[in-house]
Amino acid sequence: MIVLGIETSCDETSVAVLDGEGRVRANVISSQMAAHALYGGVVPEVAARAHLENLPAALEEALGSAGVRLEEVGLVTATAGPGLIGALLVGLSAGKALAFARGVPLVGVNHLEGHLFSSFLRPGGEPALPAPPIFHGLVVSGGHAELVRVEEDRIVPLARTRDDAPGEAFDKIARRAGLGYPGGPVIDRIAARGRGDRFPFPVGRAGDGSLDFSFSGLKTAMLRQFQRRGVDGSRLDPDRLDPELADLLASFQRAIVSALVSRVAEVHSGQGIRALALSGGVAANTELRATLSDWGSEHGVPVYLPHRAFTTDNAAMIAWAGLLRFRREGARDPAEAQARSRWPLGS
Ligand code: KG4
Ligand code: ZN
Repeated sequence: MIVLGIETSCDETSVAVLDGEGRVRANVISSQMAAHALYGGVVPEVAARAHLENLPAALEEALGSAGVRLEEVGLVTATAGPGLIGALLVGLSAGKALAFARGVPLVGVNHLEGHLFSSFLRPGGEPALPAPPIFHGLVVSGGHAELVRVEEDRIVPLARTRDDAPGEAFDKIARRAGLGYPGGPVIDRIAARGRGDRFPFPVGRAGDGSLDFSFSGLKTAMLRQFQRRGVDGSRLDPDRLDPELADLLASFQRAIVSALVSRVAEVHSGQGIRALALSGGVAANTELRATLSDWGSEHGVPVYLPHRAFTTDNAAMIAWAGLLRFRREGARDPAEAQARSRWPLGS
């Protein structure tokens, strides 16, 4: 079985080719970063147009580097939501057209479910690892923070963010510090030489007894610190940062990591975590990966970390999650697949 994956939910146009064992034969990612950097964030109209321009070349390149002809594709998968509706429509419509033209099934994939199973993909043409029958998943990205329990035939949501997603907090803080977009990678790099324990920030939570996350208080506390230091968004060189500002950013990252790991620990003491899969763009974060791994070793919980190539948005994860769902449920009529800007996990 050859599976084609298409991802266009946000600002990455991606096309992937996988085989039935989850070997990634091609995973082409065409980033629109440059188009959006000008605005300091993703502009929906610009994204949709860029997907339309980039998709044909990405498809050709993916098939070419996988050495696969379109006629060999047995299943088409495309992100159907959640995401920017105009952007989603580009990839999903292309997927529908390909499936219809080739007479093969189409699966409209939940982008978050794609992230959830990305922890099991491996680079270098290795087959995907089998997912444990029951595991907990922590999806942390620019748009989401979700902690879920994955069972054989359902996904149970346990916690999500009430306001900002962690990646969004990284992006906003970096922008206000004059460090550009996206913010996660640059803060990750700066934090490596800063002292994360210098400014202890409160770890945000929803405050109503639920497990939900909240990151807007942390963001406000950071902005106040910036104001006090005259940091006003003028361009700063990340390699020549005032050491105190580096400590501040390291402490901000520490607060996000602590919020995520403490919630995982809490769920573990409540219901027991047999295995944990981390995913999403923020799963590329060095401190988060290390801290969660250490937590897992201490508590005897296997922690699956996604390979960095599969952390940010990519079509390989969409193809893999789509294939797993196809095996569980079969395919529906391609014409029925609908793009959905909102689509919570487990619904
Ligand atoms: O999963 P993704 O590509 O897009 C969404 O579905 O949102 O995640 C992008 C997010 C951005 O907010 C980016 O700043 C963040 O992931 N990110 C990181 C790192 N690399 C990317 N955050 C923290 N540390 C990183 N190393
Ligand atoms: Zn994503």
